[in-house]
Order: sequence, then C-alpha cells, then structure tokens
Amino acid sequence: MRLIFLGPPGAGKGTQSKLLTKRFGARHISTGDILRDHRVAGSDLGRLAEGFMRHGELVPDKLILKMIEGEVEKSPRGFIMDGFPRTVAQAEAFDALLGSKGLALDAVVLFDVDRDTLVKRLTARWTNPLTGKSYNAITNPPPGPGMRDADGTELIQREDDKPETVSKRLDVYREKTEPLVAYYRKRGKLVPVNGLAPVEEVTRQIVSALSPELQAK
Ligand code: AP5
Repeated sequence: MRLIFLGPPGAGKGTQSKLLTKRFGARHISTGDILRDHRVAGSDLGRLAEGFMRHGELVPDKLILKMIEGEVEKSPRGFIMDGFPRTVAQAEAFDALLGSKGLALDAVVLFDVDRDTLVKRLTARWTNPLTGKSYNAITNPPPGPGMRDADGTELIQREDDKPETVSKRLDVYREKTEPLVAYYRKRGKLVPVNGLAPVEEVTRQIVSALSPELQAK
C-alpha cells in the first residue's frame, strides 16, 4: 500500500495514518514527526528546521527530500505519507523517486475540512509526548483528570498550535500545498473524503475508496 494523505493542518491526517498503518501493516511516514524528533535530538536538520516550524513556514524542499529517500527504503510493506509532499516541487521529486524504484502510488486521499473547524481542532489538540496519541479537549477529551492520559502522563500542546501560528500554517497550506490537489487530480490519483465526519466514519470512507486488493490486505 502506498498512499499520500493530503489536507490542511488539523484535517485528521495523523489520526487516520495511525489507525490505518496499524490495520494494514504499512509504515506511517510523518515528515512533521520526523522533524520534531530531529529537533529533540538537536541534530543539524533539527536546528535548521526549528525556525521554519516555529513560525508555521515550510522547511525548504531540499532538506525534506533528502530525508524522504531513506524513509521509503525503510518501507518494504508500503507507506502512508502524512504531511508530504507539500509543494509541487516535492511532488515532482517524489514521482521521480518512486519511478526510479519502479513503484507507483495507489491513491492520494484528500481531507476536506473548513477553516473554522481546523482552527478549533488545532488549538484544542493535546498529545501524549511518550506515545504520540492525540486527544482533543472538545471532541475527544483525554481520559485522565486534567490534561492527562489514562496512565497519568501529562499531555502537551504543540508550540505551532498557538492561534497566530495556526493561522499562518493555514495560509501557507493554501498558497503552497493546495496546488497539489490539481496535480494529483490530473494524474487520476485523488480520493476526496469528508474530514468533518467522525473519526471512525472517515476511516470507513478511506478504506472503501481503496481497491478491493488493498482492502483485502
Ligand atoms: P505537520 O506535523 O505535518 O503538521 P500539519 O500538516 O500541519 O498537520 P497536523 O499534524 O497539525 O494535523 P493533522 O492533519 O495530522 O491532524 P490530526 O490528526 O493531528 O507539520 C508541522 C510543520 O513541519 C510544518 O508547519 C512545517 O514547518 C514542517 N513540515 C512538515 N512536513 C513538511 C514538508 N513536507 N515540507 C516542508 N515542511 C514540512 O488532528 C488534529 C486534531 O483534530 C486532533 O486533536 C484530533 O484528535 C482531532 N481530529 C482528527 N480527526 C477528527 C475528526 N474526524 N473529528 C473530530 N476531531 C478530529
């Protein structure tokens, strides 16, 4: 299975990637998570990415592309790309990379969610720093007392989920990433889903849009 999850910040790409990679045994490749890991580790890439991420800007294509090649090699059972590609240049380079390995994409799932909902979701998102599990103070509150997970772990908010940074990220999406909708539609790969539906319903929509061979996996 080789899927791209495309959609604005907060559309539910990470939530669905985690559920579906577990179900299908594919690899979840989140460029945002990989960059955040580099920042925590204090690597050169982490230091270079930090300023862009903090301000809701995209990290330069060159840095991202270098990172992606190794990730695809580590994914013999396929992948779900979450947050990549984000520019037409990244998409073109990714097509070339897959082509050079004789691989093809199965589908590009487009999550459709309106801006007001995205802002509400992101500013209410809380994450378990140990497991990556994500909650939402409004739609899916954490089980523990206060902002804690069931085992008592204190949940955290991402620094780029502050309202002003969320707004910048949504503008960047519209300008730099939305052109990918036309790019993949032209190639017959686009599968739109209603990202406003409840989580389980979005999962169902994605699975039912996959080919019967993929569904049977
Ligand atoms: P990244 O980490 O990729 O963030 P993003 O794309 O902005 O996406 P998010 O993780 O914020 O949202 P999501 O769609 O995964 O939503 P989620 O499932 O969590 O990127 C961060 C930064 O890294 C970028 O700004 C950039 O600087 C850099 N970067 C990363 N990749 C790059 C690239 N390729 N090129 C250049 N720079 C790059 O859901 C959100 C909330 O909603 C959660 O609380 C969840 O519980 C809730 N929710 C989810 N689904 C539903 C539902 N159906 N109903 C109700 N609530 C729901």
